[in-house]
Amino acid sequence: MEKLTGLKKIKTAVFISGTGSNLKNIISFSKIKKSPISIDLIISNTSYAKGLMYADQFNIKKRIFSFKNSNISEKKLSILLKKEKIKFICLAGFMKILSQGFIKKFDGKIINIHPSLLPKYKGLNTHSKAIKNKDRFAGCTVHYVTTKLDSGKIILQKKVKISVNDSISSLAKKVLRREHKLYPAAIIKIFN
Ligand code: GRF
Repeated sequence: MEKLTGLKKIKTAVFISGTGSNLKNIISFSKIKKSPISIDLIISNTSYAKGLMYADQFNIKKRIFSFKNSNISEKKLSILLKKEKIKFICLAGFMKILSQGFIKKFDGKIINIHPSLLPKYKGLNTHSKAIKNKDRFAGCTVHYVTTKLDSGKIILQKKVKISVNDSISSLAKKVLRREHKLYPAAIIKIFN
């Protein structure tokens, strides 16, 4: 990954579909001096994503692409990313699968956070699977996005202990808190 030169931060887009707690956290991180990235664009596949409010709150450009016809959406998105000089993409709860062509265009420049200790539990419902299997640990992983779902090289991973009293939602909350530490740490690791 390219090294930082001077004070210029790497223009980054965050893709979301929902609450956007990771987005908010990455925005706050991006404002500190040691952050290698700035958040310049927020992309969502739905206007209902609560996280879009952070675009207004932090004065960041936002765009919605439905991805109903993902070909057309990705074409428009690519043009926008080029226009905005976006060099790095963080997926944060983005629920659409990007095409091979799109991922290849941004090869090694798209990362994602996943709420499990990959390679365990790719895809959805990670916390219920961990509880059902009586795992001792859950966790979260930041990884590069490749054409195979949740399978790219792991950048950082953190364990979270599952207690006997944990429900799916209490575990999800614990893991999310850990995600908020992990995502910035992974970004720093990439560019250092
Ligand atoms: C997180 O648990 C993330 O790991 C997963 O989707 C969730 C998004 O949460 N990919 P938020 O929208 O950032 O609050």
